[in-house]
Amino acid sequence: MSMRRAVYPGSFDPLHNGHCEVIARAAGLFDEVIVAVSTNYSKKYLFPLQDRLEMAKQTFAALRGILIEPMGDGLLAEYCHDRGATAIIKGLRSSSDFDYELPMAIMNRQLTGVETVFLPAESHYLHLSSTMIKEVFTLGGDVSDFVPKAVLKKLQALGAPEKEIPQG
Ligand code: PNS
Repeated sequence: MSMRRAVYPGSFDPLHNGHCEVIARAAGLFDEVIVAVSTNYSKKYLFPLQDRLEMAKQTFAALRGILIEPMGDGLLAEYCHDRGATAIIKGLRSSSDFDYELPMAIMNRQLTGVETVFLPAESHYLHLSSTMIKEVFTLGGDVSDFVPKAVLKKLQALGAPEKEIPQG
């Protein structure tokens, strides 16, 4: 039987517990889940790509069936096609997430036939976004309940927060 592979794409700037929970559930549905860390050159990131990859690798090191890869800055649908993935995983926190994701899901399917599987976010993590994590951290708040240990370490290593919050 062929392997069922899915891609979970994102900036992960930084990865947070809402992402991790969706990744863990996706890993239960597919043989392999590729966490594809994107680079969008028009975006200003808090963490460079290497750090975003490293935080995800450390977080999922003990879990089989979860791969961490750079996605590059090309089309997601092409990346999925090249990697033999039949599905894109997206977590949904709200109807506005759905409104944003639906046209992309349709376009991605029309481009290469890749389907999008939406997983409802766990209610405990409905409020989380990387932007909010960065804002709370930058303003001196405690984010330790919301991010994996590897991310907390990297945030702490940034030292005194600067009061400029990259979006995304
Ligand atoms: O975590 P983010 O920044 O919301 O992730 C966005 C991502 C990487 C999923 C999105 O920007 C994306 O799909 N980029 C790939 C470019 C692409 O395929 N664009 C056409 C979408 S139909």
